[in-house]
Amino acid sequence: MEPVRLAVAGLGWIGRKHAQLIVEHDGCLLVGLCDADDHHAAVAREFGVPFHANIEQLLEDEAVEGVVIATPNRVHGMMAEACARHSVHALIEKPIAETLDEARRVVHVCDQGGIRVLVGHHRRHSPFIREARSIVDSGTLGQLVGVSMLWALAKPDDYFDQDWRCQRPGGGPTLINLIHELDSLRFLCGEIRRVYAVASSAVRKLEVEDSLSITLSFENGTLGSILASDATPSPWSYEATTGENPHYFRADENSYHFLGTAGSLSFPRMEVWRYPDELAGWQHPLENLRHHVEEADPLQNQLEHFCRVVRHQEEPLVDARDGLRSLAAAVAVLDSAERGVPVEVPQS
Ligand SMILES: NC(=O)c1ccc[n+]([C@@H]2O[C@H](COP(=O)([O-])OP(=O)(O)OC[C@H]3O[C@@H](n4cnc5c(N)ncnc54)[C@H](O)[C@@H]3O)[C@@H](O)[C@H]2O)c1
Repeated sequence: MEPVRLAVAGLGWIGRKHAQLIVEHDGCLLVGLCDADDHHAAVAREFGVPFHANIEQLLEDEAVEGVVIATPNRVHGMMAEACARHSVHALIEKPIAETLDEARRVVHVCDQGGIRVLVGHHRRHSPFIREARSIVDSGTLGQLVGVSMLWALAKPDDYFDQDWRCQRPGGGPTLINLIHELDSLRFLCGEIRRVYAVASSAVRKLEVEDSLSITLSFENGTLGSILASDATPSPWSYEATTGENPHYFRADENSYHFLGTAGSLSFPRMEVWRYPDELAGWQHPLENLRHHVEEADPLQNQLEHFCRVVRHQEEPLVDARDGLRSLAAAVAVLDSAERGVPVEVPQS
């Protein structure tokens, strides 16, 4: 079969990573790159593909089947509209858009244009998240009662050189990072019904938050909590504990804990804690069984899935409506933190 012809829009941190993965994968071909900043023409020269200053020009000049949209959140909508006009499928980096209205518009224009959208919640393609889902679904933990997540790390100072990362509505750890936790929670525990959040920007004193405490309740009655900070050196984040991104320091620690009526699960060490046999009660020792996970790069898994989505061989694992729901949970967190009240998460 002919390789899938792909392009990347936005050649910043993650866009270059996508471009590198595309050239390394036999099933697809990198046919062009675009970025609003002319300096990135050098990146296209390195990859040996044409460079374009905007997405319209890219889509007019190159025969493209799919575009990876890796621009700042505020231009995701405009990029998706261009793809829809040209009937080109899109892998839109998370969040699907900056606001719910814009995300709804993306859903609408992509439906109208008949294009397929995969939203870049790449952790859904993680072997750790898949194993956690299979353990939860298997009933080993019994009825899921609660989940506790820690996301604590220290972003380097130069991370904040990009203005958009420091400004509302697109910047801050809720929309940039914790949307991954919220999306994973939806995938593992079901839809989030209500959130209550307290946020602080006491460390960096930026317009955007640096730390949050979030309480969640799910449609099925499960409860959750997330304590998060991007200003605290710690080994307890998804990134540090899974080691999936080589950019981060790795620690053999857990960052999430799932609690059920029949047992509990630590993540990503994947230890299931249960009573042996019929024994029950806090006086009895718990048994601990560690599940093996065959590690793989979720971004690469996501790219391979996108190629199959473009060729209509698979349905998108995270389609535009699904991406909209994860954004809605993140927006509800910010809304709750701002107003100081619990907020219901809209489901469409
Ligand atoms: N899945 C993940 O784990 C992950 C990780 C990092 C970033 N992201 C997402 O990827 C996106 C990009 O993040 P980043 O950290 O790489 O940003 P970045 O600021 O490093 O890069 C963005 C690039 O887009 C370019 N750009 C801006 N406007 C443009 C336009 N109109 N047309 C073409 N190019 C334009 C900029 O010049 C820049 O080179 C964001 O949506 C972010 O949330 C996802």
